[in-house]
Amino acid sequence: MRSMSEDRTHVQEFFTARAADWDSRFPDDGPAYAAAVAELGLREGDRVLDAGCGTGRALPPLRAAVGASGTVVGADLTPAMLQAAARAGRDKDGHLLLADVGALALRSGAFDAVFAAGLIAHLPQPSENLRELRRVVRRGGLLALFHPIGRAALAARQGRQITPGDLRAEPNLRPLLAGAGWRMTSYVDEDARFLTLAVRED
Ligand SMILES: C[S@@+](CC[C@H](N)C(=O)[O-])C[C@H]1O[C@@H](n2cnc3c(N)ncnc32)[C@H](O)[C@@H]1O
Repeated sequence: MRSMSEDRTHVQEFFTARAADWDSRFPDDGPAYAAAVAELGLREGDRVLDAGCGTGRALPPLRAAVGASGTVVGADLTPAMLQAAARAGRDKDGHLLLADVGALALRSGAFDAVFAAGLIAHLPQPSENLRELRRVVRRGGLLALFHPIGRAALAARQGRQITPGDLRAEPNLRPLLAGAGWRMTSYVDEDARFLTLAVRED
């Protein structure tokens, strides 16, 4: 088993190698991100965290949703991904923060919502890490776990089978979220997208 610091290094190496051409590999995903952000129902002035923001593909729609008076923070563990975000000008839409979402130097209840695209499969301690995301969201705030491709389509693209233990399978994800203090309110897993919404209840 890897230590937490080895987990971080592994994630950073994996995404550093992919940072430069991340956006060009998935050039048509923009509308899917915008549609997923819309499901959060953000309002003008809201505060939102993009957890594992990568190159910041979600930052423009998040900024559009909360307006100039809102707060958008993109947090990521991999400097090269944040550098690519800045090169793409996405630092205009959100404040970029080099951070591990498992230990955020952000105050409790600071956000109305967390958007996390493609993140959960990379978390070494999903339950603890989802609890940390809950901590920084206000009571009644929302979490969106998104991927611009469904589980089956992603597995096919990667030449593997989905296993019953897949973290994002609904029977696994619902109790995982509940154990971390989130109540799942919707679950969609279709070829063109994966989107789970959850609410912080107390
Ligand atoms: C599949 S990429 C998705 C990036 C972006 N959200 C997108 O949709 O294009 C996953 C990102 O999560 C980041 N990440 C993985 N584990 C993390 C952690 N514990 N804390 C912060 N970021 C993390 C990686 O560095 C990477 O940029």
